[in-house]
Amino acid sequence: MTVVGAGNVGATAAQEIARRDYANVVLVDIKENLPQGKALDMNQAAPVLGYEPAVVGSNGYEETEGSDIVVVTAGVPRTGDMSRDDLVTTNERIVSSVVQEAVQGSPDAILVIVSNPLDAMCHVAKDVSGWPRERVFGMAGILDTARFRAFIAWETGASAKDVSAMVLGGHGDQMVPVVSATTVGGVPVRELVSDDRIEAMVERTRKGGGEIVKLLGTSAWYAPGAAAAQMVDAIMLDQKRVLPCTAYLDGEYGIDGLYMGVPVKLGAAGIEEIVELELSEAEQEAMRASAEAVRDVVSVLSGS
Ligand code: APR
Repeated sequence: MTVVGAGNVGATAAQEIARRDYANVVLVDIKENLPQGKALDMNQAAPVLGYEPAVVGSNGYEETEGSDIVVVTAGVPRTGDMSRDDLVTTNERIVSSVVQEAVQGSPDAILVIVSNPLDAMCHVAKDVSGWPRERVFGMAGILDTARFRAFIAWETGASAKDVSAMVLGGHGDQMVPVVSATTVGGVPVRELVSDDRIEAMVERTRKGGGEIVKLLGTSAWYAPGAAAAQMVDAIMLDQKRVLPCTAYLDGEYGIDGLYMGVPVKLGAAGIEEIVELELSEAEQEAMRASAEAVRDVVSVLSGS
């Protein structure tokens, strides 16, 4: 499989995937020597961590030919007060050229988009590749959900592993944490935590990316890299996991012709099913508002 962009998120995803030991990884970046150097480092971690060295760094696409999955993390990250949406024009150009190059040698691959603004970049990838929605989708929901799950685990003192949640909608401040589907060891979170504490966690989740940008001056990579690797697992190992991913909606959730975060069944064919949760009236309204926010960003795309 291929990871394009050997920066913070791409290298973290590549390392996570290499450690699983089921796929060869090609790491591509335009920066000379960067993917080669990181690949070498990862291969030298292999004897310690116990995987076979199989990471190749490259500035071109020849080595990527025949990939089953191409994860796209190329782009510029969000810095300072920049919103994800400010990134749209620069990253549209980058994602468009990366997808054009990557699909030539891997015409049957699955594209997993990570570059922001995520929902809009998925549209770019779908338009440029011309591939069906089953094979072009994005990583955001697992990350947003992981943040929400971490906050709930801290609040309740439970293991993060026992917190189940779903964060849907666009990958922006209007994302929709589905509180009605959130449980701790099977107990609805509303029975364990007061409404105002839940609301505070929902707010912190919505601003979760920005909180890290404020601390680090650039956007997150450990959780995004791990989330991308979880999607690769589900596809490569045909796991049929139901995970929140950014999928092209064709009437589902009352939304048409737009990429949004929804639960999907991920397996060897990519998106094998879009799962329609029953949402409360307030959650449906929040999905509609989130869709409007995504449409605003998509309308900024030059190709739109
Ligand atoms: N082709 C290949 N690589 C490219 C291209 C291109 N056309 N343009 C930029 N890159 C590379 C950069 O050289 C850099 O190494 O993409 C990498 C991006 O890495 P970082 O700057 O470390 O950014 P990162 O934190 O990894 O975020 C990447 O993922 O989560 C999103 O918002 C984030 O859009 C951003 C992306």
